[in-house]
Amino acid sequence: MTQTRLTPEQLRSHRWFGVADLRSFGHRSRTKQMGYAEADWKGKPVIGILNTWSDINPCHQHFRVRAEEVKRGVWQAGGFPLEIPALALPENFMKPTTMLYRNLLAMEVEEIARSMPLDALVLMGGCDKTTPAMIMGALSMNLPFVFMPAGPMLRGNWNGHTLGSGSDTWKFWDELRAGTITEEDWQGVENGIARSWGTCMTMGTASTMTSAVEAMGLSLPGSSSIPAPDSNHARMATACGRRIVEMAWADMTPKSFLTVASFENAVRVAMALGGSTNAIIHLVAMARRAGIALSLARFDELSRATPLLANIRPSGAYLMEDFYYAGGLRALMAELGDRLDLSAMTVAGVPLGEAVAGAKVTNADVIRPVGNPVKPEGGVAVLHGNLCPDGAVIKHSAAAPQLHRHTGPAVVFEDYNDMHARIDDEDLNVSADSVLVLRNAGPIGGPGMPEWGMLPIPKKLLRAGVRDMLRLSDARMSGTSYGTCVLHIAPESAVGGPLALVRSGDLITLDVAARSLTLEVSDDELARRRAAWVRPAPRYVRGMGRLNEQEVTQANDGCDWRILEGTAPTPEPEIH
Ligand code: FES
Repeated sequence: MTQTRLTPEQLRSHRWFGVADLRSFGHRSRTKQMGYAEADWKGKPVIGILNTWSDINPCHQHFRVRAEEVKRGVWQAGGFPLEIPALALPENFMKPTTMLYRNLLAMEVEEIARSMPLDALVLMGGCDKTTPAMIMGALSMNLPFVFMPAGPMLRGNWNGHTLGSGSDTWKFWDELRAGTITEEDWQGVENGIARSWGTCMTMGTASTMTSAVEAMGLSLPGSSSIPAPDSNHARMATACGRRIVEMAWADMTPKSFLTVASFENAVRVAMALGGSTNAIIHLVAMARRAGIALSLARFDELSRATPLLANIRPSGAYLMEDFYYAGGLRALMAELGDRLDLSAMTVAGVPLGEAVAGAKVTNADVIRPVGNPVKPEGGVAVLHGNLCPDGAVIKHSAAAPQLHRHTGPAVVFEDYNDMHARIDDEDLNVSADSVLVLRNAGPIGGPGMPEWGMLPIPKKLLRAGVRDMLRLSDARMSGTSYGTCVLHIAPESAVGGPLALVRSGDLITLDVAARSLTLEVSDDELARRRAAWVRPAPRYVRGMGRLNEQEVTQANDGCDWRILEGTAPTPEPEIH
């Protein structure tokens, strides 16, 4: 990269603070109103610290403190830090799903950056959708930025059993429903499964996305693996503050260094981690904001060519804390070696190869060598067929091997409420061979593609010992979930995708090796059903729901809003 060094007059914030006119008088006098003197800001880059802290986001509880640590780094390096709150998207609390609000946060980040006197950004996120949302917005604005990941929480514990976020919730819920654990046991799990601040510590969407973003070069090397309560995390926050000041002077905008290779590195790392299927949607959306095309077919190619090395739940045995002690993401990327494009640039100002140089795996059972992987290929497969003309995905690394090739009769649920009402009905016509089908759970139908894709196993089958079944939907699935769940079926049923035409009793065939999903119904019969299909009336007449219905794209296109896609220039605001 060519080395740029801006002068103070070339800083974007100079237009607010440095000129001699009436408006800048207002900006300076109001900055003084906050107690700052000219020495605090004059001639310095203004760093916006976008903080998604909230009293209702347990994953970001440390962000009040971390923001101060980022500021310390900014001051140290001669910048002027301003902390600005941004929408928190607490995965567990927002209904129907945080995904409905990902694009809203993306828009908020972009517009905060555009409308304020900021030269560069530190983005503080980590809980699932906060990561892609903040990066999508910041890519569209294209100011220099560093993403500061929240870090995973510590391992859970119940009576000496290690507990993993999400995965063990589902597992013990099934055991409770099957009658193999008591209410008291269940209470113990509730008390022990989340015992520190930080993001889910399985390889869920949070750790998948923060790792992918580090692999893309948008976080400091090694930052995504540090557990949230570790003092190394605090020092990393301060380092983000120092580094962003240098990036502001160097005008190191993301689009000046992100390439196709950056995104493909992120995909490969997500696959080597056995990462969340959600990453596919988010990476497609992020790449498009950078003007880079990333197809589902390419995901599948990269998945087939990337060994699964991280032995982390739900695909493996360990948790993120173990991953950190085993060397963390730098060590995993060093192990992947030239499977990654090591020439891709990072926010550290060095290529990825230099960023991971010298990193060592200290526990080869947690981070496996390429010669002894958890699985020889990545954890996610992209499927096609007459049931998913625009694609579907399955995390086969977390699915029962005997179901990778399976044909069975459909048991169709019209929507989530229908599923909820009937799934445990003793009279439900279902067996272990059945294929559970949920529709109206997609980007529009959900809305927001809620994480309903791991449909519960019917209680009567649980009692009979069944723990996995083939399940299909246009929903997403939590990265901490597991099972033979085909997700993201596109087009979704609410817009007339073939999923809308399935009837109970139809045979459905999954073949992971062939990457196919087939509804065994003739084309003529499907045409008859399509002719009789009626599109549901719009569900919302105003607000976010309405905006989403009008603007959201399908899963294979990243579920961005059409008005936010693309790289067309947006004018800078008039200031004078
Ligand atoms: Fe925040 Fe899982 S709930 S990362």
